Amino acid sequence: MVEKVMTVPEMNTPRTFTGDIVLRTNNLTKQYGKRVAVNNLNLEVRRGEIMGFLGPNGAGKTTTIRMALGLIAPTAGSVEILGQEVATHGSRILPRVGALVETPALYLYMSGRNNLRAVASVLGGVPRSRIDAVLDLVGLRARQKDRVRTYSLGMKQRLGVAIALLQDPDLLILDEPANGLDPAGIVEMRDLMHRLTAEGKTVFISSHLLTEVQQICTRVSIINLGELVKVSTIEDLISGHGEFVVTLERAQEALALVKAHPWGKDARLDTRGALVTTAPGKRGRDLNLFLVDAGFAPDTIAQSTQDLEQVFLELTNSGTGEIQ
Ligand SMILES: Nc1ncnc2c1ncn2[C@@H]1O[C@H](COP(=O)(O)OP(=O)(O)O)[C@@H](O)[C@H]1O
Ligand SMILES: [Mg+2]
Repeated sequence: MVEKVMTVPEMNTPRTFTGDIVLRTNNLTKQYGKRVAVNNLNLEVRRGEIMGFLGPNGAGKTTTIRMALGLIAPTAGSVEILGQEVATHGSRILPRVGALVETPALYLYMSGRNNLRAVASVLGGVPRSRIDAVLDLVGLRARQKDRVRTYSLGMKQRLGVAIALLQDPDLLILDEPANGLDPAGIVEMRDLMHRLTAEGKTVFISSHLLTEVQQICTRVSIINLGELVKVSTIEDLISGHGEFVVTLERAQEALALVKAHPWGKDARLDTRGALVTTAPGKRGRDLNLFLVDAGFAPDTIAQSTQDLEQVFLELTNSGTGEIQ
């Protein structure tokens, strides 16, 4: 079975939370004996975003998610979902959270639709129309009557997401849902996540692969060895440090000239001989004018970007990542 939080829905389940932070961890810590799996973690997931939770294997992602779902208790700290603490208000708040933790365990001999019906009957109170709705959302309507055995991995993962959506949750927490998917499967997963946020849902999605998260998420929180090392938009993660890459003739001469100015003191040539430098006034246009005035004729000026994989490795290598 899909690991699903089973709680009895209460009549007074709050529907009025309007805060901006849908999930928050406060100094969340989990220790297994002497091993600290999650260390003083402070995360914030905003309403309507697709937050990636990125970190290498063993970083503490699943442990964090299990604490967020009330499946294990923190050693210290707490998790708040929709403004309420999970440890004390779990039974009220967790029905509004849909979860898929690691691979969904599905009944392979049953159809996709019957898997959904089976879970719906355990949950109770799920109208038949909701089964149709989630099948549509995850793009499995046409295959709903086929046995799950015949599904691709991507279809099985999406069926897992469909199960997590049965109770129409506000927040969806997915642990490595793109694990093992081919590029087409990742694109389908991305499109599905965007459909969900268009419906007003918030998504928190873990991965150990930057390439997956990069395509699916709007922001990422990166953890390593149980600690938060970076929170960033994907855009900021890849944009360089305000540098420009200039291809031009007589690059050595241009370098010497640029380095004589305070804004260009860190300038260098890259491996292909292009000039890499920040610009006067931080503007590419001003850099161009400066070079032209000095008798150079740049062929191209481009904003420098960082290799995401490199960024991720630097942040998570040997636990020496900067602490945000
Ligand atoms: N039940 C457990 N008992 C002991 N150690 C555990 C347990 N669960 C996880 N760990 C350890 O906690 C660390 C984080 O694991 P986990 O949260 O599964 O990482 P991730 O999901 O990021 O790969 C790892 O070192 C793992 O071995
Ligand atoms: Mg994990």
